[in-house]
Amino acid sequence: MPHSVLIGFAVLVICHTSQAGYTKFPDGFTFGVATAAHQIEGAWNVSGKSENVWDRLSHTRPEMIADGTNGDIACDSYNRYREDVEELAYMGVDFYRFSFSWARILPSGRVDFVNPDGIRYYHDLLDALAEKNIEPLVTLFHWDLPQTLQDLGGWANPKMVDYFRDYADLCFKEFGRKIKSWITFNEPYEICEDAYGDEKKAPAIDSHGVGNYLCSDTLLKAHAEAYHLYNETYRPTQNGRIMISINSIWYEPSDTNNAEQVTLAEVANQFKFGWFAHPIFTEEGGYPSVMVENVAQQSAAEGLPKSRLEQFDQYWIDRIKGTSDFLGINHYTTHLITGAGVDPIAKSPSWLKDIGAVTTMNVGGESASEWLRVVPTGFANLLRWCKSSYNDPPIYITENGFSDRGTLQDYGRISYFNDYLSEILNVIYDDNVKVLGYTAWTLMDNFEWRAGFSERFGFYFVDITQPDRPRTPKLSVEYFRQLLATRELPQDERFKDPSMRRL
Ligand SMILES: *[C@@H]1O[C@H](CO)[C@@H](O)[C@H](O)[C@H]1NC(C)=O
Ligand SMILES: *[C@@H]1O[C@H](CO)[C@@H](O)[C@H](O)[C@H]1NC(C)=O
Repeated sequence: MPHSVLIGFAVLVICHTSQAGYTKFPDGFTFGVATAAHQIEGAWNVSGKSENVWDRLSHTRPEMIADGTNGDIACDSYNRYREDVEELAYMGVDFYRFSFSWARILPSGRVDFVNPDGIRYYHDLLDALAEKNIEPLVTLFHWDLPQTLQDLGGWANPKMVDYFRDYADLCFKEFGRKIKSWITFNEPYEICEDAYGDEKKAPAIDSHGVGNYLCSDTLLKAHAEAYHLYNETYRPTQNGRIMISINSIWYEPSDTNNAEQVTLAEVANQFKFGWFAHPIFTEEGGYPSVMVENVAQQSAAEGLPKSRLEQFDQYWIDRIKGTSDFLGINHYTTHLITGAGVDPIAKSPSWLKDIGAVTTMNVGGESASEWLRVVPTGFANLLRWCKSSYNDPPIYITENGFSDRGTLQDYGRISYFNDYLSEILNVIYDDNVKVLGYTAWTLMDNFEWRAGFSERFGFYFVDITQPDRPRTPKLSVEYFRQLLATRELPQDERFKDPSMRRL
């Protein structure tokens, strides 16, 4: 450990004892911001890109999108990526997390035809980032599956393991010289539960309790195959790293003295985070045992001859174990567990019914998103839990952010970042949790899936009524810029909500 880190640590301890709270990030801690292809690129039907599942959903069922918008133009980043890069450079980020559009690179979903324009677009973006010394962190799959592959069953089709591996192979080969950090999947829970077990995300299959578990079987195998391919074939020459980004709604007991709620919160966290983390990040591998038991029990009660959740065989348990160089965590919020039983909103059968607990979102401050409540201490609890549950892994926060309706004086967003970042400092210094980097969601207001543009998470405001999609910096741009320049939580009065300043 460099000497300066130790000195920094000693100074911080003194700060903390004077009740100031930690403010300074350790040496080497990196910051970035994130986007995703379908949410910003637009250009949905030009230069050879094919239709993806979000194009299909927003075009054929526009009533499913809160404000009737779609990703046809979005932020027009396909044409305006140079502006994106200027904004990133202005903010002073170390890295930019963005995703590749599979349907732009491979219109059929398969490697039989590689779209030259898709390849050119991502090379241009990567080169523009390199000019500004911004490191790319690239997500291979951020929810926008080519419709051609969805027509074959999407992630419920076991053959997707091969299609994803081929796509990853092409990306490593083509772009690996320029990309040192990869993410295979963004938020497997959302992909499997929200899109196959429900209709909250495209393709809105809603095969609750069944499709969601078929999806996780395929997705975890596809992730492992991409990891091994990179590890064996590309890492020796490209020297990069590769991980998965798992999202969490962190569950806590509504009454911490209630033993049943405490136990059920742990069950819920195993179902939510452990579903994808346990197979990859534990010695034992495979799905969490409580998940295997609960689904088997429910399936038997439903009269099924075997569990809706098929456990991996030993070959796959071993093949999936250890396949992530870091634990990537997307975190936004905490919900509560109020007791045992079937959640009133649970379908039958379903993942939520399989948990056997009643949940509530009635906690913390509000945002523009119903599901997003502001509970900074929940973040610290999640991070400590990850340290103890997964053998102290090195962690990157790959998303964290706050929604409002688009105000430029976005004090709510600034205070969210400040309080959540402060909790990261607490667990780094007090609990030795190895958090190495932080990614804010998101560079600019963008197509927020089924919420359209009605819930805005951006540093930059995007005016979608104008054809050139002008971007206007919100106050949070200055907050983040100062944070990046000093590597310290800004204390300036100008970042505090005027109505709160006298408190
Ligand atoms: C592309 O989609 C737009 C709608 O977003 C439509 O107006 C246009 O005709 C389409 N172009 C082609 C080449 O299909
Ligand atoms: C990655 O490759 C290295 C070097 O061949 C090997 O030691 C390691 O076990 C591989 N990792 C996994 C998870 O298979």
